Amino acid sequence: MELLIRGGRVIDPAGGVDDVLDILVKDGRIARMEKTVDAPGAQMIQAAGLVVCPGLVDMHVHLRDPGLTHKETIPTGRAAAAAGGFSAVACMPNTKPTADSPEVLGYILDAAASPGPHVLPIGALTVGERGEALTDAAALRQAGAVALSDDGMPVQSAAVMRRGLQAAGAAGLPVLSHCEDGELVRNYAVNEGAVSRALGLPGRPAIAEELMVARDAMLAQETGCPVHICHVSTAKSVEIVRRFKALGVPVTCETCPQYFSLTEDEVPRQGTLARVNPPLRTKADVEGILQGLQDGAIDAIATDHAPHAQAEKALPLPEAPSGMVGLETALGVTLTYLYHTGALSLPQIVKKLTAAPAAILRVPYGRLAVGGPAHITLFDAEEAWTVEPERFYSMGRNTPFGGMTLRGKVKYTIVDGQIVYRDEKERL
Ligand code: DOR
Repeated sequence: MELLIRGGRVIDPAGGVDDVLDILVKDGRIARMEKTVDAPGAQMIQAAGLVVCPGLVDMHVHLRDPGLTHKETIPTGRAAAAAGGFSAVACMPNTKPTADSPEVLGYILDAAASPGPHVLPIGALTVGERGEALTDAAALRQAGAVALSDDGMPVQSAAVMRRGLQAAGAAGLPVLSHCEDGELVRNYAVNEGAVSRALGLPGRPAIAEELMVARDAMLAQETGCPVHICHVSTAKSVEIVRRFKALGVPVTCETCPQYFSLTEDEVPRQGTLARVNPPLRTKADVEGILQGLQDGAIDAIATDHAPHAQAEKALPLPEAPSGMVGLETALGVTLTYLYHTGALSLPQIVKKLTAAPAAILRVPYGRLAVGGPAHITLFDAEEAWTVEPERFYSMGRNTPFGGMTLRGKVKYTIVDGQIVYRDEKERL
């Protein structure tokens, strides 16, 4: 079966392509990518006016499966990924049991083996994410792990982190670090600042994140092992990463759409829907994040898709779990706040959602190459739509973007040459 994607604006930052081209897909691969391709009998997608780019890569999601399937399952998470334009998602190990063994990774890979977005498991850095004994990095890599992380339960001990980096480095795996000092943040719900004071709640201070960003960047410098900082949320975190990069240290970082679009002011308005770790910060932090996205201090955009059940998010703010879903709003929020504001160009944005995260994880995604796998996303950069959480494919409805009108919509997601998502307005 052949599929012809006709006349779209093909943006492939890894290959240096930004041109109106036809793409012919055959047997799951890109067969041709040229000005004009004739393929009589091929299924055709009219892509004029659309952007055609490599399938998006989300290096940070929580699929909750095994064990927390009242929040999300691997099938529902993959359906949400497809609807969001993602052909590959890397899933964090804070499942039940923790993804700290080849057996749990095997379960995840088996559950995600059907056609659709690929699931790339991230193994835990420490057993049970308890921050003490290290997992077997080589065995986890052998079982399919693309990275190691204790996301959600940051490794508090510098000694454990240092040994973990060395072990992961020796096994050829990057470490992804959620940076927050546990004693400084406890289980507090919001950023420490004007909003926490107004609400009379203890807050999570920016320094709790920045101290650990600095610690892990220094450990990367000392060990030579790559560290990737998850979801940076403060201007100073960006500045620390920028400085260590300038020294040639192997440190990279991501941010998430909520950190360049929202501030702590969302908490009084939206309550637990705006509760996330690290917390939404200040306007000055949003500006620092934008600067980092522009100058390259921030490499990638990830979602930290963190579904929770409605009853859990209905708890009072100090008790509700942290996290927000993001797969189905990521592209719309990113285009609305980065492209339509003039902050970043489409090729810059596409790179941060494709080639950059793929390079950090060293996985073969995020590129359109003749002969390579046909993981392709088509989107309309202009189309306005309103976020309706009740229509999400994800089981999670916990988004602060509900009801918001965004500009930029996923039209088709193609994985291994198969259309795995098509916007309801599109007809072949
Ligand atoms: O808000 C968050 N939720 N941050 C994390 O690091 C973990 C995540 C979750 O698993 O719910």
